[in-house]
Parts: sequence; C-alpha cells; structure tokens
Amino acid sequence: MVNDTARLFIGLELPGDVREALSRIARDVPGARWVRPEQLHITLAFLGNVDAARQARLRDALQDVRLTPFALQLRGAGTFGGARPRVLWAGLVEVPAALRRLHADVSAAIQDAGLVADPAPFHPHVTLARLREGRRGDVQPFLDRHATTDFGGWQVTTFVLFRSVLSAQGSTYTVELRA
Ligand code: 2AM
Repeated sequence: MVNDTARLFIGLELPGDVREALSRIARDVPGARWVRPEQLHITLAFLGNVDAARQARLRDALQDVRLTPFALQLRGAGTFGGARPRVLWAGLVEVPAALRRLHADVSAAIQDAGLVADPAPFHPHVTLARLREGRRGDVQPFLDRHATTDFGGWQVTTFVLFRSVLSAQGSTYTVELRA
C-alpha cells in the first residue's frame, strides 16, 4: 500500500554562516544529541502526519501567504523544560512584528487546509540539541558561556514546508515547498 501521509512542519531556514556559528559551539554538554548543522531551523508550526488531500490544500493555502521580509539576529542560549531541561536552544535578539504576523498567517493557512494549528504561545528559537538526562548541572556551564554569544543575522524572505523523516539516526528534514 502506498503511504501517502507525510510528517510535516513549517519553518525558516538559516543561512550557512549562521549554521556554522551555531555548530561551532555544539560541544561540551554531557548527554546532548546535537542537531546536525544542515538541519538547524526555526519552527513556525508543527503539523505531524498529514494525509495527501490535506497536503494539497495546505500547499495551496501556504502559497497564498504573503511574507513581508524581516531581519533576524540570533543571540544567546537557553533551555526548555525547567528543572529538567530537555531542549537546548539559541534565541532571537528580538521577535519582529513581521515574524509574529507570518506565524499568525501560517496558522490561518493551516486551519484553511482543515488542519489544527497549535494554540500555544509562539516562542521562536533554534533547537541546538536535545538532552538525554535533563540535568541542569550538565548544561549550566554551556548556558553561562553562551548567554550573550552572537550567532549572526540575516534577512528572511521565504518560509518552508518541511518533511521530517524519522530514523534510528534521528530526524532528517527535507524541503517540500519554499514560499
Ligand atoms: P523545535 O525543535 O524547534 O522545538 C520538526 O520535528 C520540528 O517540529 C522540531 O524541530 C520541533 O521544533 C517541532 N515540533 C514542535 N512540536 C513537535 C512535536 N510534538 N513533535 C515533534 N516535533 C515538534
């Protein structure tokens, strides 16, 4: 049987020099599973498995989203997960209004396609690593070292529909659509 569902998410690509700056610091955290440099991105919305019919509707809806170009700058590192940190991320110097608008427009396109947009507040970030043990002591020296490290900036002019393929080696992301 043909499996025509795909695991999808929408996000922003990072330029090579920014990915390089991020991958240079990707070390010295016990238990970290670092994201491969070519896979680093900013997630706008995670969709999970989407059937073929809704994929077609989603592509149409996303192609109608108009992105107003905006500048992003990455600086500093933090964690999600509170006392048991699970995700290590690099942050944005600020969240431009045009990025919030893009997130809202993408969420509306997701709903137009008959899918459910995550209602959780939008906290844009670049996931650098997932932490196996979730021990604060393992990650604190890294956070102290990179509290204000600059990773560069760029102009965002496109967003991407990504496909995520899971394997024993971790997830691999490929571009389905650039809009
Ligand atoms: P994050 O790493 O920025 O948190 C692809 O899996 C991307 O979708 C991940 O990079 C992850 O973003 C995001 N995502 C959000 N919710 C997810 C979920 N429930 N399962 C997997 N990925 C999710």
